[in-house]
Amino acid sequence: MDRATYKILTPGDLDQEGNDKLIFELDVLNGLSEHPKHLSSKYFYDDEGSRLFQEIMALPEYYLTDCEFQIFESHKRDLSNLFSDDPFTLVELGAGDGLKTNILIEQFLGDKCDFHYSPLDISEGAMVTLIDSMRKKFPELQVNGVVAEYFDGLKWISNISNRRNVILFLGSNIGNFGQSQARVFLRSLWNSLNDGDYLMIGFDLKKDIEVMLRAYNDSRGVTARFNLNLLNRINRELGGDFDPDKFRFYANYNVFSGAIQSYLVSLEAQEVHIGDIGESFKFRPWEPIHTEYSYKFLVSEIESLASATGYRIIRQLYDRRRYFVDSIWQVEKLTR
Ligand code: AVJ
Repeated sequence: MDRATYKILTPGDLDQEGNDKLIFELDVLNGLSEHPKHLSSKYFYDDEGSRLFQEIMALPEYYLTDCEFQIFESHKRDLSNLFSDDPFTLVELGAGDGLKTNILIEQFLGDKCDFHYSPLDISEGAMVTLIDSMRKKFPELQVNGVVAEYFDGLKWISNISNRRNVILFLGSNIGNFGQSQARVFLRSLWNSLNDGDYLMIGFDLKKDIEVMLRAYNDSRGVTARFNLNLLNRINRELGGDFDPDKFRFYANYNVFSGAIQSYLVSLEAQEVHIGDIGESFKFRPWEPIHTEYSYKFLVSEIESLASATGYRIIRQLYDRRRYFVDSIWQVEKLTR
């Protein structure tokens, strides 16, 4: 048997080191200078934020994760048959703790599938934890972790693989993109992939508004801490002096956009200084910073997204309540 390998590529290996902090500074400068103010949700996921997101996934109100567990449990045999005609690389975009993926990996290994696992995540802390737990659970599995953002990771994916790619993009991570961003992303992914490669995307479906609102307004306030961590991160990494107690988290469902929209609202008039940027930012009382879009989908919207970006939908896997769908797409490059 092959010796298992556990490797992690970090921004240094990808020629990213040094750039990251500058880009963070520019994004914060830009986002806090505009009206309305905004910060990107991609900055939630430092090591502390990734840990808080794991806490969110364990919340009773955050149904998305339970739905996907259910879907994986009931379809793992089918998925193993579908993917394993040829040797493949299982690439996971935004792997986080990889807990859901364990279900599939266990099935694939049991079925003696020939595959490698390449998780990608922007948090190095999350990646180290993931790799550690994988090594313990699946000592025979070959794992290549990449610490990068989606697009930087994509370049890496297109470089390595002549195997079939099976890309996992789970948890409704795609919901953070707006409509046109989602199209651009899926088309760039299509460009990096080969005819016949698979993409499994999780979409949170439009449903009872109360159910969606509860998932983001959890009773223990974990989602609030998750958002407020962004201010702490700016304090830690950019020398900011945000007082998180002077902000509150607010999330609503916008029926026009079809998204849960999240904000941090300034509770009073205040000025915040960010040392490494060398700027102060004024807040009016009740002035919001927009932090996140979590788009929800109709099946018909998923179908147009797939056909507009060059994929054929081959399975729609639902949980029992039909709250969520894992949609299996196949890359179509040739007309067959
Ligand atoms: C990881 C982007 C799917 O939008 O539901 C959870 C992140 N934000 N609670 C989502 C999140 C607030 C989550 N995604």
